[in-house]
Amino acid sequence: MRKKIVAGNWKLNNTMDEGLKLASEIANMMNDEVKDGVSVVLGTPFIHLNAVSNLTKTNKNLNVAAQDCSTHESGAYTGDISVAMIKSTGASHVIIGHSERREYHNETNTELATKVDLALKEGLTPIFCCGESLDIRESGNHEAFVSQQLTESLFHLSEEQMSKVVIAYEPIWAIGTGVTASSAQAQEMHKALRAHLATKFGDSLAENTSILYGGSCKPGNAKELFGQADIDGGLIGGASLKSRDFVDIANSF
Ligand code: 13P
Repeated sequence: MRKKIVAGNWKLNNTMDEGLKLASEIANMMNDEVKDGVSVVLGTPFIHLNAVSNLTKTNKNLNVAAQDCSTHESGAYTGDISVAMIKSTGASHVIIGHSERREYHNETNTELATKVDLALKEGLTPIFCCGESLDIRESGNHEAFVSQQLTESLFHLSEEQMSKVVIAYEPIWAIGTGVTASSAQAQEMHKALRAHLATKFGDSLAENTSILYGGSCKPGNAKELFGQADIDGGLIGGASLKSRDFVDIANSF
């Protein structure tokens, strides 16, 4: 059975103190409230990774993710953070290929394939993001476009490697806009992505891959989204910055 996962992506938010306060609130609420079997991930800026990992390590359902990693393992790459560095903080996951990094840092599917390889080699779980812009959605090519993102960044993996990857479908037009994909639109896409995975890796692997939805997911719409057959949780931006909202989303299965 595939895992249910709710991951927060804090993006460029929270100073050290603010991040620690938010993480402690979430950790405290989770102990009392979140069902066993739901894995919760906090995607923090690099500065918080170690402190938040220490704070959450006693809760086996609470994990920490970096929001990106370098395409290099070490060397003269000023400002980069490698997968080994991320692993050494205690983090277990890394978000790869978020649309904001694709857009503002020109990350390509080929570079993202390298990041996925490095993360897997280091024993980190990649949360691989994909999703189409409004133009592409309106042209009707969204399935082909997102399928190609998977093909170019993930289809070189072995089955064993792919079994460790989590996918997040985040339509760009729904990110931070307050416009959520309808549960039917999201389900249609998740089903298509699962079918696409099956063409390369087989039905069983596709069935066991967690595919998260991201894009204006909130306490008010999470239940309906997570109730869809092919939606296994969410990657949450804005609502992950409020402990109450985030924990309510984690409780929406
Ligand atoms: P919002 O939840 O703020 O729309 O952001 C989604 C997202 O980009 C998560 O990675």
